[in-house]
Amino acid sequence: MRRRIVAGNWKMNGSRDLSEELVGYVRSEAGSLDNGVEVVIIPPAIYIGNVLDQAQGVVSVGVQNVGQWQSGAYTGEVSPEMAKDAGCRYVLVGHSERRQIFGETDELVAEKVSLVVSSGLVAIVCVGETLEERESGQAESVVAHQVRSGLAFVPKGQWHNVVVAYEPVWAIGTGKTATAGDAQDMHSAIRGVLKDMGAPAEEISLLYGGSVKADNAAALFSEPDIDGGLIGGASLVAKEFMSICRSFPAAT
Ligand code: PGA
Repeated sequence: MRRRIVAGNWKMNGSRDLSEELVGYVRSEAGSLDNGVEVVIIPPAIYIGNVLDQAQGVVSVGVQNVGQWQSGAYTGEVSPEMAKDAGCRYVLVGHSERRQIFGETDELVAEKVSLVVSSGLVAIVCVGETLEERESGQAESVVAHQVRSGLAFVPKGQWHNVVVAYEPVWAIGTGKTATAGDAQDMHSAIRGVLKDMGAPAEEISLLYGGSVKADNAAALFSEPDIDGGLIGGASLVAKEFMSICRSFPAAT
């Protein structure tokens, strides 16, 4: 079902203290949100247990990455089944940092997505163009290709376990955000691609990510095809993160 989601991706940041203080604060505030937003925290895997202790079912928890196998001799990897067993509900797949720094391909993203959704977890599949691609007019075709290939193996009955996050690479951690109008145009294009693939496009939540802050969230979240945000830097500051969560109007 299409729902409002605000997810904080801590990347390789955080500590036991942050897991206790920030998540404790977020939990105490999230319970009184009247706008139907599901709040998700995605810490480094080693802090999942600490975050879950504080989240207490009020805040959802996710992992930033999984391997493409369920178990075995893959030193350093965590599987979707393990993430589920530990209490996670979400898995980020294909974040641009994974693609650019760790060489993840569309094929690998597709394999992981299929394993994640088949495990009953929700895959937040990240797509987005580079500055060069945007400036040369290829943004929409690049993103459409990432959506088609990354979601190529989603089984027919598993689309409810898919969320797509549009994160223009040039906006991540740079302080530059897509305008609400440009983000809306891309989200609408993504919904069109999903429809074309035979997916229940109107039911799939589409998040925007890339320098979302308390002062630009409301404009982004007022667009009809933007169902929430994937927040990096601002998710490490408890009050800022919660004010992003409050940027949706009250649920009707
Ligand atoms: P940012 O990161 O909010 O710091 O730009 C977003 C992300 O990488 O998910």
